[in-house]
Amino acid sequence: MHYVLVFALLFVSIAAAALRPVDLPPMHHPVNIKPSKAVNVPKDFPLNHRGEIVCETCHGIEAIEDIPFDEVDKYAPGFLREGPYAKSTAFCYRCHEEKAYRRQNIHDLLDAQGNYDEKSCEYCHQKALDPEKEYTREQLKLRLPPETICLGCHLKTPHLNALNHLLKPGKKMRRHMQAAERKFSIILPLDEQGRIMCVTCHAPHERGLIGVNKPAGNQVAGGDLKEGVVYEDHPWNAVYRADKQARLAKLQGNATPVTLHYRRLRSEVLLRLSAKDGSLCLACHEFDR
Ligand code: HEC
Ligand code: HEC
Ligand code: HEC
Ligand code: HEC
Ligand code: HEC
Ligand code: HEC
Repeated sequence: MHYVLVFALLFVSIAAAALRPVDLPPMHHPVNIKPSKAVNVPKDFPLNHRGEIVCETCHGIEAIEDIPFDEVDKYAPGFLREGPYAKSTAFCYRCHEEKAYRRQNIHDLLDAQGNYDEKSCEYCHQKALDPEKEYTREQLKLRLPPETICLGCHLKTPHLNALNHLLKPGKKMRRHMQAAERKFSIILPLDEQGRIMCVTCHAPHERGLIGVNKPAGNQVAGGDLKEGVVYEDHPWNAVYRADKQARLAKLQGNATPVTLHYRRLRSEVLLRLSAKDGSLCLACHEFDR
């Protein structure tokens, strides 16, 4: 999601909370505000009788304010009105002007000539590195440890199966991963404690910045970074959910239940191996086939 907005939202939420106590999830969008001229609320997004945005303006879930937050089905199609949206920002732009809010995609590092601006490296590295050189972990001089560097801008739960993957694979899986690294000439780096992190699966750079013949630069091709990850709804969604829900409930025990939403990946970006054809998953998992 928009990091400028996220930070802005944090402050707005605090300010809003101080003014009028409304029970909202953390970092949530402010409510009970009359839209200014800068905001364009679509006609079929209902406001309250005072003309203010309220829960129903954005959520198509009846009486959402009466449901405990962790029981709200975030994957219900109407969770965000007229959704689902491929990206949360697409929802924001239903009311906010896109141009004013758009931010630079910092992974989009190369210009049309294949050159890069060293300043853009410094979002994540203390100083620009040379893509041709070999570096040890310490020499990468990342501004934050690699396991947290993505989280200022992205949520810890950017997608299903992210958070529950940030743990330490067992010995057998480690061996399987090392074999996959050799076989596909990729890297699947773990953090200092040997845990999976975002960059175990995701490449942080646009493809081509680091030579594709180097393991660190070898990543999925084909997707458009400007378009990002594109999903499409799958007609089997309902069947898939029903089938998985019971098994998932058993697996999870007392943990908060999640609702699955089966969407097909249409194009992928910033991944070390393709998830669409399953090869990313099979770099770690060994499923019976
Ligand atoms: C301006 C639009 C807007 C309004 C008004 C609004 N919401 Fe939300 N709400 C959102 C967005 C956007 C999200 C985040 C969706 C995401 O991260 O996937 C969200 C998330 C939520 C969630 C899920 C939180 C989580 O992460 O599990 C709950 C619960 C929720 N809103 C309740 C409410 C309630 C109750 C109200 C009214 C008091 C309300 N919302 C008003 C836009 C709005
Ligand atoms: C239903 C329309 C609607 C949607 C959808 C919506 N907003 Fe807003 N937003 C508003 C209104 C109304 C305000 C109050 C400020 C105003 O009217 O100018 C506001 C204020 C804000 C502010 C406070 C700063 C400012 O611009 O005044 C931020 C930040 C913000 N929204 C971010 C978001 C993000 C991020 C999303 C998507 C997750 C989003 N909004 C979706 C209507 C909306
Ligand atoms: C979004 C954050 C981010 C940005 C922006 C970024 N990097 Fe990185 N970079 C990382 C992370 C995380 C690693 C360690 C994981 C890896 O190697 O993929 C890394 C590793 C590297 C490596 C070592 C690769 C290897 O052989 O292991 C080089 C070289 C590098 N970056 C160069 C650059 C250059 C040049 C830029 C600017 C054009 C840049 N990076 C921008 C996050 C970033
Ligand atoms: C300075 C902010 C920033 C940091 C740090 C950052 N990202 Fe991003 N990332 C973005 C922006 C901006 C986009 C473009 C899409 C958007 O606006 O959400 C993006 C897009 C992506 C996408 C493609 C999603 C899509 O559909 O467009 C992935 C995957 C991703 N980032 C992973 C990572 C990983 C992994 C890291 C840590 C190495 C990271 N990001 C660090 C800002 C950041
Ligand atoms: C087990 C592998 C794995 C891990 C760990 C992982 N991701 Fe992902 N991520 C994926 C896959 C697969 C996709 C969908 C395909 C793609 O990126 O092209 C994805 C998609 C994304 C997207 C785009 C989502 C969208 O709907 O537009 C973002 C942003 C992202 N990941 C960020 C992160 C961040 C941040 C972390 C760390 C907290 C993380 N991922 C951890 C595999 C992973
Ligand atoms: C970097 C290694 C790695 C990759 C890549 C990976 N996984 Fe996992 N996955 C794990 C680990 C570690 C666990 C924890 C349980 C275990 O050890 O089997 C796990 C657990 C799971 C679980 C059980 C979730 C739970 O809460 O118990 C599912 C389902 C799963 N992975 C699916 C996938 C899918 C689908 C992909 C491809 C998109 C994928 N994994 C890619 C390492 C990985």
